[in-house]
Amino acid sequence: MILRVCILAFAVLTVAADGPEQVHLSLGSTEGSMVVSWVTLKPPTSNGLPQVTYGRTAAALIQVAYGKMDDFNYNGVIRYMYQAEMVNLLPNETYYYSVGVMGQMSKTYQFKSFPKGNDFLLRVCVFGDLGYINGTSLPYLIDAAEKGQFDMVLHIGDIAYDLHTDNGQRGDLYMNQIESLISKVPYMVIAGNHEDDGRNFSHYNYRFNMPGDTNHFYSFDLASVHFVGVSTEFYGYFYEYGQDSVFTQYNWLHDDLAKANANRKERPWIVGFQHRPFYCSNDNSEECAVFENRLVRTGYEEMPGLEGIYIEYGLDLGFWGHEHSYERFWPVSNRTVFKDGANPYANAHAPAYVISGSAGCHTPKASFGPPNPASAVRSDDFGYSILTVHNTTHLQMQQISVEQGKAIDEIWLVKDHGHKQKPKEQSNGIALPEVPAYTAKCSRWDKRCRYEASKRRMARSIVRFA
Ligand SMILES: *[C@@H]1O[C@H](CO)[C@@H](O)[C@H](O)[C@H]1NC(C)=O
Ligand SMILES: *[C@@H]1O[C@H](CO)[C@@H](O)[C@H](O)[C@H]1NC(C)=O
Ligand SMILES: *[C@@H]1O[C@H](CO)[C@@H](O)[C@H](O)[C@H]1NC(C)=O
Ligand SMILES: *[C@@H]1O[C@H](CO)[C@@H](O)[C@H](O)[C@H]1NC(C)=O
Ligand SMILES: *[C@@H]1O[C@H](CO)[C@@H](O)[C@H](O)[C@H]1NC(C)=O
Repeated sequence: MILRVCILAFAVLTVAADGPEQVHLSLGSTEGSMVVSWVTLKPPTSNGLPQVTYGRTAAALIQVAYGKMDDFNYNGVIRYMYQAEMVNLLPNETYYYSVGVMGQMSKTYQFKSFPKGNDFLLRVCVFGDLGYINGTSLPYLIDAAEKGQFDMVLHIGDIAYDLHTDNGQRGDLYMNQIESLISKVPYMVIAGNHEDDGRNFSHYNYRFNMPGDTNHFYSFDLASVHFVGVSTEFYGYFYEYGQDSVFTQYNWLHDDLAKANANRKERPWIVGFQHRPFYCSNDNSEECAVFENRLVRTGYEEMPGLEGIYIEYGLDLGFWGHEHSYERFWPVSNRTVFKDGANPYANAHAPAYVISGSAGCHTPKASFGPPNPASAVRSDDFGYSILTVHNTTHLQMQQISVEQGKAIDEIWLVKDHGHKQKPKEQSNGIALPEVPAYTAKCSRWDKRCRYEASKRRMARSIVRFA
């Protein structure tokens, strides 16, 4: 008798462990749609299509959307990756949902759909560099989401440290740990250097479903903002994976920002996000100046850098991670800083940038080098940023320290309708000191050195055969 009870309990647990896990949301491809993604570690028990059932009360999940499943094999460990898209959601309503296959559905989750149009208050939580181990901000983030303090999360690279560690178990643990947050508000991500898993970012590609054709660069409109995320890792890993992606992304970005610029009347703000920064003043080795970071800003060989295009189209605000600290910059354009006036972020002359990489991970607090004239505020407190989109003329950006339990920095970006950045016409900019030429000694582990050496070998062999 006792034995039978034990077997029964065990059976129930096993089923639960094999069912849907790591449930999370991301914005769909059209207004009023939401994608839900999940994972199972065993193949589905029925032949039914993956599905999300949903509705406006928990008791009546009367709508259904069918999705798809991919097998993902990483070092012989197979994961089953699912996605389904809920479309035509009523605006500004609470929805309940459950995912799985017929006969093996998850528990019920809930989220709130976004209001329609461009005129509503939107609060976006932004951070980078959050680990499963020592993810200091995580309990605070979960608590803040529970209290409804933000509507969306932007995770700007370096996720879980790493998604692929222990053949992906680290990624599974992280995604389950953070599930209560990211099953409630869309979790929009961009790849950082830690997402390279030796297989061209395969964990990142399979685990997430960003709008558009790729997880690596995409954009979406929400409230009065055009959000645009790009990969700095196409630059950082061009040695391994080639330069093509840099060009594909660059051409796409040109098109995307041209369209966004033509639509400024409707959505006057353009907010970017990417992993590696253009500027920083940390003193961790040469991190701010290492070759693979520099070329993101300026380009290299035929590859165009990213700063020029942001200047050309007047990006209003850009978020960066990579450095494990918080640093806010004055409006800055090609190493010229504009900090004149009572609020340099009002009708600004150049893009403003924020490093928000202090969510917490395996490293201790990041330290800073000598202050940089472009740098307005620095903090190594653990925490995250909140971007509040008030309306077509006002954005508010706050840095929350989870150690102090309060905002430790705040700015208002203010813009009159029709204002355009004109950095070149401004005479009151301050030039940053020249970046010293890249002089780091070559070691045979240095990717740049190996690349340069292989180019020289190639050139020699061309000469030889000519
Ligand atoms: C959305 O719904 C809430 C109530 O849940 C209401 O207070 C708010 O005004 C609504 N927002 C819009 C833009 O309709
Ligand atoms: C890596 O993936 C990108 C797409 O994200 C693709 O364009 C590129 O060709 C791939 N490189 C290799 C070497 O597989
Ligand atoms: C930045 O300034 C340098 C000269 O200091 C110039 O060569 C380069 O073209 C400029 N880049 C952009 C994007 O304006
Ligand atoms: C996590 O943080 C604690 C407290 O700062 C520290 O003692 C510990 O070494 C850290 N663990 C790891 C794995 O970094
Ligand atoms: C936009 O939001 C700001 C901050 O809440 C407010 O001061 C301003 O009056 C708003 N503008 C409009 C047109 O509602």
